[in-house]
Amino acid sequence: MLHCKPLHPLFAAEVVGVDLRQVHEPAALAAIRHAMDRYAVLVFRNQPFSDDEQVAFATRFDGRLHAQTSLSALGANRFGNEALTDISSVRANGELAELADRRRLSILSNRLWHTDASFVDPAGRYSLLSGRVVPEVRADTEFADMRSAWDALDEADKQRFQSLRVFHSIVHSRQTIGFDFSPEEAARLPGAVHPLVRTIPASGRRSLYLASHASHIIDWPIPEGRLQLLDLIEHATQPQFVYRHIWQPNDLVIWDNRATMHRGRPFDDTRYRRELRRTTTLDIGT
Ligand code: OGA
Ligand code: MN
Repeated sequence: MLHCKPLHPLFAAEVVGVDLRQVHEPAALAAIRHAMDRYAVLVFRNQPFSDDEQVAFATRFDGRLHAQTSLSALGANRFGNEALTDISSVRANGELAELADRRRLSILSNRLWHTDASFVDPAGRYSLLSGRVVPEVRADTEFADMRSAWDALDEADKQRFQSLRVFHSIVHSRQTIGFDFSPEEAARLPGAVHPLVRTIPASGRRSLYLASHASHIIDWPIPEGRLQLLDLIEHATQPQFVYRHIWQPNDLVIWDNRATMHRGRPFDDTRYRRELRRTTTLDIGT
């Protein structure tokens, strides 16, 4: 039995007394996935993962890893493994990134509400984010429960949104804040179509599948669909649906990208070192 301490009235829990590097048994891994179906965000403190251990755990936990990331379109990462996404305020040489550094500007768009890897198909399922170097200033991550956001819609809206499909593109989300990929980079990031409303198989719960990457609704005029998506994101990120995570070194936070959105909160990343590593699994099979 996992010992879960709820962190919010609707979702998110801290799991205590587990060293994930030692968790190998299928039943134990299944228990964590089961808790994910309930809480959608799980926080594990004191998980001193190395890069290899993190990749190995993510693979044991859920099979295939997402490696076609937006950062990989900007050039190879410093770990030589595109499945290990470098969510850091530092450059390959370990120095703080400068103001106009392109990797930095691309990572800045994590401050928009989003869900990981919605711009590929299969999309992202779980993200595992490991806090390696945590700055002395607050640099929190917020999560929103998209199942509760769905539940809170009225029946007429649920009917209206039920079978809509949405085009997701990271080129679009970057453009909204004025970051442009080159045509060659953009060609590696063509985007994907996903349903607006998803059912999480194991729990049967429905959720709104939204993201900064959500560009428009298929078959709707683009401005109308884009306005509708902005309106839904505003609805889904009201304070009652949001948990705010305050990082400690060696935290591992796992979230379900099908059931949540998240965003990084601003801090002075040109002054403070913050190094996180993310592995994201793909939504394949059950
Ligand atoms: C991510 C992400 C937010 C943060 O790693 O996918 O969006 O606070 N991170 O760094
Ligand atoms: Mn993210």
